[in-house]
Amino acid sequence: MDKKFYITTAIAYTSAKPHIGNTYEAILADSIARFKKKQGFDVFLQTGTDEHGQKIEEKAKAAGKTPTEFVDSVSAEIKRLWDLVGVSYDKFIRTTDLDHEKQVQKIFRKLYEQGDIYKGSYEGWYCTPCESFWTESQLVDGKCPDCGRPVKKAQEEAYFFKMAKYADRLLKYYEEHPEFILPVSRKNEMVNNFLKPGLQDLCVSRSSFKWGIPVDFDDKHVVYVWLDALTNYITGIGYDADGNSSDKFNKLWPADLHVIGKDIIRFHTIYWPIFLMALGVPLPKRVYGHGWLLQDGGKMSKSKGNVIYADDLVEFFGRDAVRYYVLTAMPQGADGLISWESVIEKVNADLANVLGNLVNRTVAMSNKYFGGKVEDKGVAEDVDNDLKAVAVSACAKCCKEMEDYCVSDALEEIFNLFRRANKYIDETAPWVLAKDESKADRLATVLYNLTESIIIGLSLLYPFMPETAEKGAANFGLSLRDFDSLDKFGVFSETKVKETPEILFQRLDQKAVMDKVNAMQAARAPKETSAEKKTEKKDKPMIDIEDFEKVQLKVAKVLACEKVEKSNKLLKLTLKLGDETRTVVSGIAKHYSPEDLIGKKLVIVANLKPARLCGIESQGMIVCAENTEGKIAFLSPEKDIEDGSEIF
Ligand code: MSP
Repeated sequence: MDKKFYITTAIAYTSAKPHIGNTYEAILADSIARFKKKQGFDVFLQTGTDEHGQKIEEKAKAAGKTPTEFVDSVSAEIKRLWDLVGVSYDKFIRTTDLDHEKQVQKIFRKLYEQGDIYKGSYEGWYCTPCESFWTESQLVDGKCPDCGRPVKKAQEEAYFFKMAKYADRLLKYYEEHPEFILPVSRKNEMVNNFLKPGLQDLCVSRSSFKWGIPVDFDDKHVVYVWLDALTNYITGIGYDADGNSSDKFNKLWPADLHVIGKDIIRFHTIYWPIFLMALGVPLPKRVYGHGWLLQDGGKMSKSKGNVIYADDLVEFFGRDAVRYYVLTAMPQGADGLISWESVIEKVNADLANVLGNLVNRTVAMSNKYFGGKVEDKGVAEDVDNDLKAVAVSACAKCCKEMEDYCVSDALEEIFNLFRRANKYIDETAPWVLAKDESKADRLATVLYNLTESIIIGLSLLYPFMPETAEKGAANFGLSLRDFDSLDKFGVFSETKVKETPEILFQRLDQKAVMDKVNAMQAARAPKETSAEKKTEKKDKPMIDIEDFEKVQLKVAKVLACEKVEKSNKLLKLTLKLGDETRTVVSGIAKHYSPEDLIGKKLVIVANLKPARLCGIESQGMIVCAENTEGKIAFLSPEKDIEDGSEIF
């Protein structure tokens, strides 16, 4: 059996610090790599950064840096993030590495000399002030998408790759290798939308910008980005276009798996195999196009300061909680959502309640009843059978899910085992057994069964949450086990648990965490945005006193207040205005909890037409002040005055 496993991620653009969506891919590939290692494969994981192109050249200029300074800093930041989330890469390639650049030049020359690349001209829409070419579809209202000025049709000399020449061979490869594209649904899309209608030749050089690998026989041109980027998968492990590839290359290639996002499946399943065919290099075995992790509750945007980054998440929740969240957020190939609130909920529901609690309770009971010693006293009962069956079958189930990289389903199997073990505690009620001395051996067996089940679960959890798995096992004084011993129950003979176990996960207080998150985001929103917002508010036109008199403001007392279910922004307030009682729904839940408001007097707009919010009729609006950082304060009368009083 071929025991090597070469796995890669896409290489990330060094145009900006990657958000949690890009980081997800590195975590996913790392989990697969660690899982394969546990299955006995000799794994090599390559990741890295894609550093050339016009966009990066422009970003560097805007930052007042040279392109090299700019990509050096962003690439280092990406590496730091990958390290922070525990990506165990064997190689971190940069497309500015000299050996990569040299090979790309050789590859370009070879393809040119054998007639696959030819010189032609690239036609597009040109923006003179920006010195940029745009395709028809990139234009916004027929104008330059960057500066909004008119563009004109123009031609640029460029090299092209003859894609169509290889289309039939590629179709045949698809047919002979039905597992090549994952999820399989993507294969039909490639065939019907791109291969069947006929492939266009691909532009592989540009002369309108400089930040790229020069074509060595025509230095007006730089290699255009996909030929430079895709070849990282072979140059990173020692491919040589002159036929002197390294032993490492000969051992590792063809890649077993390229892990990439759904937006770049076409480049990896059409252009990449065709480049390889032209080079006479075997094709990769599988390309997995995962879905996208999207931000819940609105688009991530730098100007709102709400982009979710992996390092912030790690700071708030720890590395493994972040890994767990993103890995379970998206079933194979599908998109998933992330928000700060949903991470808190998942940490509480799965990590604290299910796993943390199970480990804690089990260790605590062993300490309490047996001074920390765990051993099987052989007093089995029928109720043990189901737990044992779930435990010894978990590994096979996980491996099955991982054949097609259904990572979230594999994790579900592991957590099913932890849930089953929690249920076993309820079924066996150790605290009841502990009251009867004659049941001491049965109690010991129960705790042994729990410990053994947990160790099996943690051993399987290792690839996904390595630190947690190791910390958890250490709490029991045990080591994680190899996968080939996980189908047996009763492997360890005895152990001593830690007197004070490390808490794996604690329940989080949603409001306390969100207060900190909001403060962090408010501080990050660029100052200009706040200033703009302020000007916007100031610029309201002058009004007459009659206009102001149309607004009826009244003092109201908060009788009751609660959160609106299914919303993290809204509070429902019951207000007293003299003899009248009203319901008002207000979007201040992120700033006040119900207890902060009950009993307080505040000001409302009393003659606003009612509106329905989350199905509740709101009969007025609470008057608040907001500062430039988005901090909110409701207005209150300066001294006590009856509710219902009018404000003029
Ligand atoms: N540089 C190219 C890839 C070249 S590979 C030879 C690129 N870079 S990227 O930085 O834009 O994206 C890196 C990876 O992150 C891609 O696989 C992309 O699909 C993926 N993702 C980008 N946004 C993402 C999410 N929101 N969620 C999940 N994956 C995301 O494309």
